[in-house]
Amino acid sequence: MGQIRIDTPSRSYAVHVGAGLLADLGSLARAANVAPGRVHMIVDAGVPGEVVARAADALAGVGWRLSRSNVVPSEADKSLQTVHRLLQEVAGAGLERSDVIVAVGGGIVSDMAGFVASAYRRGVSWVCVPTTLLSMVDASVGGKTGVNLRVGGQLYKNMAGAFWQPALVIADTETLTSLDEREFRSGLAECIKHAMLGAHAGDAGLMAFTRAGLADVLDRRPGPLGELVERNIRVKAAIVGDDERELAPSEAGGRALLNLGHTFGHAIETIDADASKAPSGFWPVTHGEAVALGTLCATRLGELLKTVGEGTFDQVRALVGHAGLPTTAPGLPGPEAVLERMAHDKKAQGGKLRLIVPSGPGLCRVVVDPPREVVLRAIEVVRP
Ligand code: GLY
Repeated sequence: MGQIRIDTPSRSYAVHVGAGLLADLGSLARAANVAPGRVHMIVDAGVPGEVVARAADALAGVGWRLSRSNVVPSEADKSLQTVHRLLQEVAGAGLERSDVIVAVGGGIVSDMAGFVASAYRRGVSWVCVPTTLLSMVDASVGGKTGVNLRVGGQLYKNMAGAFWQPALVIADTETLTSLDEREFRSGLAECIKHAMLGAHAGDAGLMAFTRAGLADVLDRRPGPLGELVERNIRVKAAIVGDDERELAPSEAGGRALLNLGHTFGHAIETIDADASKAPSGFWPVTHGEAVALGTLCATRLGELLKTVGEGTFDQVRALVGHAGLPTTAPGLPGPEAVLERMAHDKKAQGGKLRLIVPSGPGLCRVVVDPPREVVLRAIEVVRP
């Protein structure tokens, strides 16, 4: 079992990682000075009933009164309408300023629950209990919360939200054993991203560990899986701790580096694809699958811009493939359409794209306004 401190200017808190931790949720929250009268749980409908019951029992066991909202996670319903409904339910449950919201589930639910916590009575505490690999290694850590917006018929990812750090994160790796295979593999996309950034966070060996341990992780062996989760959270903690609000200048990289693969990925995730050209069930891709595809585009872009040598793309593609993630997107519209969608990215500045590319082993950098023709060529690598 590990404990990682997240130190940001707005808040310091602990992330606990280990198998079976849910049973200690109440006592760990108490020890972290979370002491509400009431707790409102915001629960992902995809979480098995026994996991939710374990969390609820642990919270009730320390004497807290519970109420609950359920959320069926989907990118379409990761919306202000759902947040409005949740705020009404939290208010209806009578939560006061000193009470607490507990999010149980994947990244869509924790992003919305955190946003609800940031807005309710101008801000209440929240505790995050991630139950997917993706939410453990990424969404639960660092305080980015929010929703998608629909603008002119198109989905703009995470376009409205707040930085609102949780008071505590409890990652019980036992919850990963029952996770759906596609969902589990999707989380590995963020792990590959962190491995490509490890040297920025004092873990240059994370890529070698990820490659060597992948078979064991895919078998969900508790030892390697726990180590993977913990080392990934440490990478994210180090990067977020240095640049909580993603304000570092492009030359410094900072938190923006965590967007590796995401500008390409968000476009792939939200674009209208021709599903008839892909195997059944391929579209819509999950967020993690889109990030994997986006990371491949970013790596090829790095090769084309010569920030890394030729051959890097083949290595990353092999790892993505071994992780059981897609390396091509049949039915993806042409690169012009993908690039057009990328221009909506919230990280663009002054109308110029800011993309993250690999720049060495475990290292990445920001490139601002790369040549259009080169970006189009980079997108081609995921078109079969
Ligand atoms: N998922 C990217 C970040 O938290 O900054």
